[in-house]
Amino acid sequence: MKSILITGGAGFIGSHVVSLFVEKYPEYKIVNLDALTYAGNLENLKEVEGASNYHFEKADIQDSETLKKIFQEHGITDVIHLAAESHVDRSISDPLAFVATNVMGTVNLLNVSKEAWSDNLNEHLFYHVSTDEVYGSLHDDSFFLETTPYDPQSPYSASKASSDHFVRAYANTYKMRTVISNCSNNYGPNHFPEKLIPLCINNIRNNKPLPIYGKGENVRDWLFVKDHARAIDTVFHKGKSGDTYNIGGFNEWKNIDIVRLLCQKMDEKLGREKGTSEKLITFVKDRAGHDLRYAIDATKIKEELDWEPSLQFEEGIEITIDWYLNNQDWLDHVTSGEYQSYYEEHYQS
Ligand code: NAD
Ligand code: TYD
Repeated sequence: MKSILITGGAGFIGSHVVSLFVEKYPEYKIVNLDALTYAGNLENLKEVEGASNYHFEKADIQDSETLKKIFQEHGITDVIHLAAESHVDRSISDPLAFVATNVMGTVNLLNVSKEAWSDNLNEHLFYHVSTDEVYGSLHDDSFFLETTPYDPQSPYSASKASSDHFVRAYANTYKMRTVISNCSNNYGPNHFPEKLIPLCINNIRNNKPLPIYGKGENVRDWLFVKDHARAIDTVFHKGKSGDTYNIGGFNEWKNIDIVRLLCQKMDEKLGREKGTSEKLITFVKDRAGHDLRYAIDATKIKEELDWEPSLQFEEGIEITIDWYLNNQDWLDHVTSGEYQSYYEEHYQS
């Protein structure tokens, strides 16, 4: 029987991965390991928390003794590793926190996995979930391929690139079975509201300014989070050991266009006069070293593993806005406390 350790399962993407695995695979034991940092929220898992195949362990991936106990207690057979510091802006103000979790934490988890599985390394899989940001910033109309050289530009992407290199080094050196996927920007329910889309939805609702860095010309390739979770399920079960898979939606948007779309849709939903919310758009100082464009070529995962996005962006963004409007309690809980003080520090300096 599989006993899968999913790290970072209380976060945005991890919570969708945990929910999908708990519901789709009742025969698997799913162990969600999360340190519950500012980004971890167990409310994201209300629907599965009572399931008999679900277990939660509050732990830090940097704590090897606790990891060893968890591996032993639950007989962990495979790892899907999502735990990370994930916000570029936070990485600019505190790079070492990103080295600690994303680099040291990942190597620690690799070590504990290697040791626990030393008798039969071949029967276990270490799946590392990563980002397209490791490839750097595009300044022409090309796309990121799995073979694109790494060129990370922010402390966040540098720490993720480093962790990807360690995973490949462990596959090569110790013959661990590993797989990596690099995904584009996700959007959808449970997204922490300091990232662009949930931040704007929340601020439009509350008639607060919509801070756009620079001129809003930067381009991101957006994928609905549940489609990323489906892709992770596919790569986990069908991915080739040692391989990398790019995951994306072929869905590029300039930031300013996304924010205008959110304004239009929310004016309709909130019964506001057309054009009301766009007045909240406020251009602010650009992010330091702001990557211009990310765009994933997701041909390999489509052709080799038969995965493609199930939702068009128009549909996904409707679901997302409706979810935030219908889950005001969730928003209220996360926008109090730590989130507020971070928000004030960041936007009022
Ligand atoms: P998130 O910040 O919402 O969640 C991260 C989770 O990790 C949180 O629950 C947090 O409590 C936990 N965590 C942080 N440090 C930890 C530690 N030291 N020990 C244990 N748990 C810890 O992030 P997310 O957006 O869900 O991203 C998940 C993964 O997917 C990350 O590895 C990220 O790099 C990658 N990714 C994210 C995106 C995106 O658009 N959000 C895109 C591609 C890849
Ligand atoms: P973000 O959601 O932080 O994701 P990432 O930096 O990993 O792509 O930001 C998405 C884009 O939106 C990015 O180009 C930065 C921009 N942005 C703003 O213009 N204003 C904001 O307040 C935030 C948080 C982001």
